[in-house]
Amino acid sequence: MVIKSKRSWELSEAAATPEAVYMNRRQWLKAAGFTGLGLGAALAGPGFLASSALAAIGGYPFARNEAYTLDRAITDEEEATTYTNFYEFGSSKNIWKKTRKMKSDPWTVTIDGMVEAEMTLDATDLVDRIGGTEERLYRHRCVEAWSMAVPWSGVPLANLVKFARPAAGAKYLRMETFMDPVVAPGQKQSWYPWPYVEGLTIDEATNELAFLATGIYGKPLPNQNGAPIRLVTPWKYGFKSIKSIVRFTFTDERPVSFWEQLAGNEYGFWANVNPGIPHPRWPQRTERLLGTGQRVPTQMYNGYGEQVAEMYAALGITDPRELYY
Ligand code: MTE
Repeated sequence: MVIKSKRSWELSEAAATPEAVYMNRRQWLKAAGFTGLGLGAALAGPGFLASSALAAIGGYPFARNEAYTLDRAITDEEEATTYTNFYEFGSSKNIWKKTRKMKSDPWTVTIDGMVEAEMTLDATDLVDRIGGTEERLYRHRCVEAWSMAVPWSGVPLANLVKFARPAAGAKYLRMETFMDPVVAPGQKQSWYPWPYVEGLTIDEATNELAFLATGIYGKPLPNQNGAPIRLVTPWKYGFKSIKSIVRFTFTDERPVSFWEQLAGNEYGFWANVNPGIPHPRWPQRTERLLGTGQRVPTQMYNGYGEQVAEMYAALGITDPRELYY
């Protein structure tokens, strides 16, 4: 790969980077007299200027699943929705206004690969059909050593896996972000291996923590946070939590993720949060809380060992480095 300019992922942190509602959501919208755009425009603040159409769905805020608790305060909403990583729109954190150009309704999602029947359907229909929308409070730890704690709305990824009915031989779930350099000028930067790709083992994808978010702070996701549907894997570094997903592929080959392709020695496939494995540019022992700037110790698996450690022990992984690379 020819590197044509200073690689932004090498910059310093400072510089770079229950199936309850069963009225069809679009019917609800119509009944309520909204269009996606109309509702988006009616909402205020940075979190909503670019809201997706899932925006328009009835049911927000969803009931909180109290099984997922925090050890810290919820991050200020404006911070979490204006300090974002979305390289498709540039390497700055301040790209939220640029994401307005993205049209997240309608949004088509494909499920393919080793499944009983490949399908392409609208994101709202997919979420309706897989069901289980709820709110969860999760910590989010970026490899750049900043973190936040936010309420996500969405569905367990395990519900999608069940819905897709993968073949017994499928070992991984590969996910892909949209590709549209006209809307997302960062994708014109040919030294990046677009589209953004991420992957999980099927065990990880069906772990109770793996979540497909469609909302944040009790409202639909704004574009900059990955509208209309994104992954959230709170025990892994944030780069695994792929935004604005258009494709879920079940496969027997380990996917090579976007960052892994760029610098496999820096960004691993497993990418489990581990304060003992320093990144070449960011020591990982502590993290800076978005909003307050307070530094707190980073926890193994971002504090989610109870939910995930057994899964890795069962794979016989004993070298903690293997839990990152
Ligand atoms: N997904 C896509 N498609 N493009 C990206 O640049 N950045 C990742 C992840 N998902 C990224 C992405 C990184 S590095 C992080 S830390 C999180 O999104 C940030 O999520 P947030 O902006 O909602 O906090």
